[in-house]
Amino acid sequence: MPTTRESSSASPIGRDTRRVDGPLKVTGVAQYTSDFNFPGMLYAVPVEATIASGRVTSLDTAAAEKMPGVRAIFHRRNIGKIFRSIPGPGFEGICEERRPPFDDDVIRYYGQYIALAVADTFETAKAAADAVRATYQIDKPNVEEKLTADDDPDTVLTTFGVRHRLDSERGDPDGAYKSAPVKLDQTYVTPTEAHNPIELHATTAIWDGPNLTLYESSQGVVNLRSVLAQMFGLSKENVRVVTRFVGSGFGGKLFPWTQCPLAAAAARQLGKPVKLVVSRKMMFQTVGHRPRTQQRVRIGATREGKLVSLQHDYIYQRSMLDAHHEDCGEATPFQYSVPNLRVTFGRAKRNIGAGADMRGPGAVPGLYATESALNELAYELKIDPVKLRVLNEPKIDEGLKLPFSSRHLLECFDLAVEKFGWAKRTPEVGSMKRDGLTLGWGMAGCTWLAARFPAEATLQLRDDGTVRIATATQDIGTGTYTILAQLAAEKTGVPIDKVEVVLGDTLLPEGPLSGGSMATGSLVPAVFTAADAAIVSLLTVAVATPGSPFENRKPDDLTLKGGRVVAKDGDAASGVPFADLLRRANLRLVTGSGRSESTFGNPSPKFSTHSFGCHFVEVTWQPEIARLRVSRVVSVIDAGRILNPLAGRNQIQGAVVMGMGMALFEHTSYDPQNGAPINSSLADYIMAVNADVPPIEVHFVEHPDIQINELGARGIGEIGLAGIAAAITDAVHHATGVRVRELPVKIESLLT
Ligand code: MOS
Repeated sequence: MPTTRESSSASPIGRDTRRVDGPLKVTGVAQYTSDFNFPGMLYAVPVEATIASGRVTSLDTAAAEKMPGVRAIFHRRNIGKIFRSIPGPGFEGICEERRPPFDDDVIRYYGQYIALAVADTFETAKAAADAVRATYQIDKPNVEEKLTADDDPDTVLTTFGVRHRLDSERGDPDGAYKSAPVKLDQTYVTPTEAHNPIELHATTAIWDGPNLTLYESSQGVVNLRSVLAQMFGLSKENVRVVTRFVGSGFGGKLFPWTQCPLAAAAARQLGKPVKLVVSRKMMFQTVGHRPRTQQRVRIGATREGKLVSLQHDYIYQRSMLDAHHEDCGEATPFQYSVPNLRVTFGRAKRNIGAGADMRGPGAVPGLYATESALNELAYELKIDPVKLRVLNEPKIDEGLKLPFSSRHLLECFDLAVEKFGWAKRTPEVGSMKRDGLTLGWGMAGCTWLAARFPAEATLQLRDDGTVRIATATQDIGTGTYTILAQLAAEKTGVPIDKVEVVLGDTLLPEGPLSGGSMATGSLVPAVFTAADAAIVSLLTVAVATPGSPFENRKPDDLTLKGGRVVAKDGDAASGVPFADLLRRANLRLVTGSGRSESTFGNPSPKFSTHSFGCHFVEVTWQPEIARLRVSRVVSVIDAGRILNPLAGRNQIQGAVVMGMGMALFEHTSYDPQNGAPINSSLADYIMAVNADVPPIEVHFVEHPDIQINELGARGIGEIGLAGIAAAITDAVHHATGVRVRELPVKIESLLT
């Protein structure tokens, strides 16, 4: 096999690398969950409750059952046993809606599944579902947007464990606030937002004796296997989850939703494969959303702008069923220096579906509030908002009392100021014009956690010169296939197109959730360890194979360089392609396995590990026709070493667009009468589209963070959404003089 030294000499790390799965996607070859079909497969369509609070008193399925092609109408009395699941150990067993579907007759939110029609075709199943008649005892639903904290105990059980409602405290926040020369006390509101990836949630369930296989659109196949194994009383070994490609998830697909056990239960009852694809309307009802939040921020400061007290008290909406925690205060204790601080949270139960993580959960709504408050303070004090932040730059994480592993926020500000041209800003409202438009310039800082999930991977070196890397994680559209190919290429010296990446199957070694922007950072050490182990095997083969040029050497004398085994003391050109050595030894392949441990939730960390950055935004405002546009964004991100700048910029740009949606458009509204999400379609739920998107300039300041992994790569993605809404609303204020504290910005609020 010809192996040229040129093709393997340059490191693939840090290079713009196009998606290795791109051609499969654009040619339609990539199979998403609903593309999988099986002989005898049936289609399931859930029946949705049309009330949000009450009880099903009777269900008339007679007409539906009589329809030709209908196989069954399932409900509480005939679906068969579905057990509850519990979390742990590790990052397994997690789901947001803890009640198994059909567990009782109580309706807790609009759209809750109350029955399931299964038929030979999707159309018949849909018609049958529509023909099921439910009678209810109806209670008045509570979908009130204004939030008052429920009377919860001081500690509450959340999806990720017990949390104290007094989340963080230091110094004397009340006293320091009272005596502060300058005070700010404002409340900021973020709406319920729907994830709405283009690919709908979908499950196809197939039983083979005691074995259950699930084709699922998931951001975490390993966790999903654990939940479904529990729900069907199976060992994990009896459950296989397959997720080859995901048409995005944004956190909505992190944990399983109730359509998955329903499809599995129906398939069990009927002895046939069952496919269930949720409708777009159901995407607003039964598969999670970013919870509405209401956040009071109180800041005490000196006239010079030094923070002396910061209080962040937030309340979020939750369903009757979930334990989701919207951690709005995540960044508050460390992002800026302040000696006196308190962060508390409260929860308010509503008759809505379960809340869920949505891209940048917690910190994104949280930073909207705290960064907005800082911008308001800067305006009051007539201090430049960048300068205010520089003035309050912390030396350490004052919450954890630990050094930051790597924090270069000031460098981000410097670069953004330069690239954006911030020095030309005049602070007075409406003072900047261009081409007859009023300009608004605003900015905000941002941060997002950096940590690792546990991860395992295997790497094979094969006798045709190719490398195979495998792990049970999944590519949710962020570029995991590509990054893994880059990592394998880096370690083995083969070109990227000679690397086969296999993901999305629980038969593979357990990989991380695709969540928290943590998959890449988690996989680096696992893949590198696996590669090292495979290389050790290869070098052992090289010295042990009769006739090998290295027959009399020790494995330690050798190394793999550019795809060739070479003597460390020899000339690189004298190396032998590893494929030649394997063939000579009559080996198809050698394999190495690697595992790395979690750092997420580490109870005794040595460093505070986070990514940082900032967004600078320009809006244009035409009061004559009430037209507001975001016209320019500059984002500078400190996320450690960037492994694939092309994919990294793409992640930040996508997140900025989503942040525009958060700031200007997105809001799921619930009907106070029946509790239904009113705007439950892509026509009525407004989000940013291509025509809204301005030039978005993304820069990285690259400081490898070796506390995360040996490449120094922290995650990237969610940080692009953090802070952007605060930057936009500050720019809106600069242009219009209107301070919007409840998202999304509505044009009518700007018409003063
Ligand atoms: Mo992200 S909300 O962790 O998928």
